[in-house]
This record gives sequence, C-alpha cells and structure tokens, in this order.
Amino acid sequence: MITPNEVVHAKLTVPQFKRLGQFIHKNYGIQMPDSKKVLLEGRLQKRLKKNNFSSFAEYIEYLFSEKGQASELQFFIDAVSTNKTDFYREPHHFEFLRDTFLPQFIRQSSHLKLWSAAASSGEEPYTIAIELNEFKEKHRGFSYEMLGTDISNEILQKASKGIYEEKRVEIIPLHIKRKYFLRSKNREKRTVKVSRQLKQNLTYRTLNLTMPLVGIPNDFDLVFCRNVLIYFNRAVQEKVINAICKKLKPGGYLFLGHSESTTGIVAPVTQVAPTIYQHTP
Ligand SMILES: C[S@@+](CC[C@H](N)C(=O)[O-])C[C@H]1O[C@@H](n2cnc3c(N)ncnc32)[C@H](O)[C@@H]1O
Repeated sequence: MITPNEVVHAKLTVPQFKRLGQFIHKNYGIQMPDSKKVLLEGRLQKRLKKNNFSSFAEYIEYLFSEKGQASELQFFIDAVSTNKTDFYREPHHFEFLRDTFLPQFIRQSSHLKLWSAAASSGEEPYTIAIELNEFKEKHRGFSYEMLGTDISNEILQKASKGIYEEKRVEIIPLHIKRKYFLRSKNREKRTVKVSRQLKQNLTYRTLNLTMPLVGIPNDFDLVFCRNVLIYFNRAVQEKVINAICKKLKPGGYLFLGHSESTTGIVAPVTQVAPTIYQHTP
C-alpha cells in the first residue's frame, strides 16, 4: 500500500503481462503482442495509483478477485482500450452516405436505423448525425434512430456529454458548426458542445462486440464498425463480422475502417466500395 500522493512507477513483469494479455484477448478479443507491454504498463499505472497499490502483483490479485471483477473490471478495460477517433474520419464513408445511400434509401423508405458499433468518444456517431440532419432538412418525412456502443463505459460517458475542444471540430465547415455546436460560455475553455438536435435520436450503451450481441436489434440499415477489428485476430474478426451481419437487414451496409477488410473471411457480404460492404445473405 502507498500513500495517495506517492508517485507509482511499478513494473509489469513478463508473466504478469502474459496473464493480463491472455485475459484481455479471451474476454475482449483484443490482441496483446509483446510490443504492447510498455503501453499496458503505462496505462495501468493510474489504476494502481487510484487503488493505492504499489505493485502489479497486488493490482492483479485484486483485479481477479471477486471484488475486483465486480468493481475494477470496467476501469481496467477503460485503460486498455484505444479510443482514437475524429470528426469526419475517413470522409469517403460520409460521402457515400450522403451521395449514394440516402438518395436511394428515401425512394423506398423513410425511417433509417443505424448502429455505430465502436462509437468511442462520439465523433463518429455525431458526424453521421450531422449528415442525417442535413438530409432531413431537404426530406421532411425522413427520420432516423442510431445506437452507439463501445466496450468502454468511460469513453461513452464522454460521448454522451458531447463536449470537445474547439480544435477537434476545425475540420467541420463553419456554417455546419454554427448549426450543430454551441460554444462554451467560458471562452477560456475553448470547447464546444454538440446540440440537442444531434443527440436526440442517439442512444449509447456499453457492449462487447466479441460476446453474444444480446439485446441488439436485428434490423439495422447501416452499421459502422470502424477501426476496432484491427485489434482482433482473424478468427475473432470473422466471428464479429458474422454476428454483425445477423443484425443487418439484407441489402444493408457495413462500413469498416481504412485498414480493415473481409479478405480471407467467410461472411455474407459483398464489397461495393473501398471498405464498404453490402449484406448479401
Ligand atoms: C480506435 S477506436 C475507433 C472509433 C471510431 N469507430 C473511429 O473509427 O474513429 C476503437 C474503439 O473500439 C472500442 N473497442 C475495443 N474493443 C472492443 C470490443 N471488444 N467491443 C466493443 N468495442 C471495443 C474501443 O474502446 C475504442 O473506443
């Protein structure tokens, strides 16, 4: 045990790293090659500090105890997950949504159901929501509902708040920013908050994509599952893609991240554009 103000620089041994790595891979699908040891050690330091432990041995014993599994596990996964994201990341997906998908969709239907399956801190679902609200202005009968999920509860809390540093929204054109973001009253903070309009058809919930997708609807028109499969091995990727396909309507679309693909994976999808797939059961 240490006093709260002491700085912790505990070392993670190789066997400890292997134990945690196997646990992470088994439960969350995330691969933990040896190259991630320093990263994991660094990220878990704050959990040791928070729990007043001076060694990883103490922390690991606690994490795997009944009490730790009930109260520390969520913080552990928050520390393990990589949440890098951006507004309008991989813009060709939003161009496809705007120029190809929505004009076709509105000819046959009016209510769109979509899922951002690794929503992180919200930039992806809010980018989609901007596009859908812009479309709605021109097509009054159009409506949508969006589900945003992620394994990390902490990152979803950030997404729900929808508060971002001004520099993170620089990429968004000024007239769009004025419409959908509110500047903080305290100008020193240099933050913006997403408008109620972007939040109103969006629900967040925690979900582990590598476990059975209990309670997730099975009639989505679109699923964005971007930049999360890269953390999984091929077998887990195949399992996750097939589980997602069961949640997509026939003809619905799946969007993957820029370095992800279904090459070598058996799944009922047909590629229609780079990293965009159609569910073809
Ligand atoms: C790099 S971010 C990608 C965010 C966004 N989709 C994008 O492309 O900008 C990956 C997200 O996947 C989440 N994640 C990692 N493993 C997961 C799992 N097994 N189930 C659900 N989400 C997971 C992480 O918490 C993280 O927020």
